[in-house]
Amino acid sequence: MSEEQTVESVIEAQGLNDYKERSGWQAEDQIAVEYLDACVQAANTDSFNSFKSNPKYTTILEHVLKEQGQCYLNIAREMNEDALMENIELFKDNDKIGRPVTHAYPGLDGTISPTTLRYIKNTFEMALMLDGQEISRIVEVGGGYGGLCKVLSCVCDFDEYILIDLPQVSALQRKYLDQFPEISDKVKCIPSTDVKEIKDIDLFISNYALSECDLESQMAYYNLLVQNSKFAYLIYNLVNFNDFHYNDFIDKIKEDFTFDSGRDYENTVILATRKDESN
Ligand SMILES: C[S@@+](CC[C@H](N)C(=O)[O-])C[C@H]1O[C@@H](n2cnc3c(N)ncnc32)[C@H](O)[C@@H]1O
Repeated sequence: MSEEQTVESVIEAQGLNDYKERSGWQAEDQIAVEYLDACVQAANTDSFNSFKSNPKYTTILEHVLKEQGQCYLNIAREMNEDALMENIELFKDNDKIGRPVTHAYPGLDGTISPTTLRYIKNTFEMALMLDGQEISRIVEVGGGYGGLCKVLSCVCDFDEYILIDLPQVSALQRKYLDQFPEISDKVKCIPSTDVKEIKDIDLFISNYALSECDLESQMAYYNLLVQNSKFAYLIYNLVNFNDFHYNDFIDKIKEDFTFDSGRDYENTVILATRKDESN
């Protein structure tokens, strides 16, 4: 962004004038607007170098506390200590961009962001669900800056990873994932305003995202994406405004999938496998 440009002029030039409308996202107005503003700044200015410690950004993302990070580390260790220790330096590459707050944890060298630890835990849960199945096409709704995509890529050799998020966030995802040449060509970032049906999805992911949208958006994404997927992994965060949608969403997923749902120490984890249509 040049000296004369303002965030508002960039938003206008990029056709993001309606950026205060949030495609069904139910986050509180002020924090959502600040988050989207921080994303536009990071995608267009040097604030990219430290966006992960911008308080306007961390109200929504990259805010996992040190102690929560320890819980996620413990869960990841229990699931697969060998894979954790083999890949930990690769996982830590996610912290090289955007200056996140990092901490030291017993048994790990150096420091790591607790949010990256949570992405490692997500990755290991997906590996348990997939049980060695080959995964070619992944679609993630509401992927934030793309951290789970980066962490998962360390242990999953996918062919294509399609990220769908609000337009301002999508631009930041593109810039972030372009910092990692080993995956940037395999990643597509689609603004939520341009989403169409995607077929033949191996793995659908929504990590604290679909659950934050109104029921209409949840069902639209279900019809366009989830029902075309062999596996689905969702962290469904239950907050006051969406308790009610959880039951509707579960009723829907039951039609096409067998699933396990359990709770990690904070939220509901849904691991869903499409029913075999020949049965
Ligand atoms: C709480 S953040 C979670 C980010 C990331 N999945 C993570 O776990 O760190 C919710 C994300 O959902 C995105 N989002 C909100 N409404 C959306 C919509 N209608 N379509 C796609 N993404 C949306 C937000 O922009 C944000 O990036």
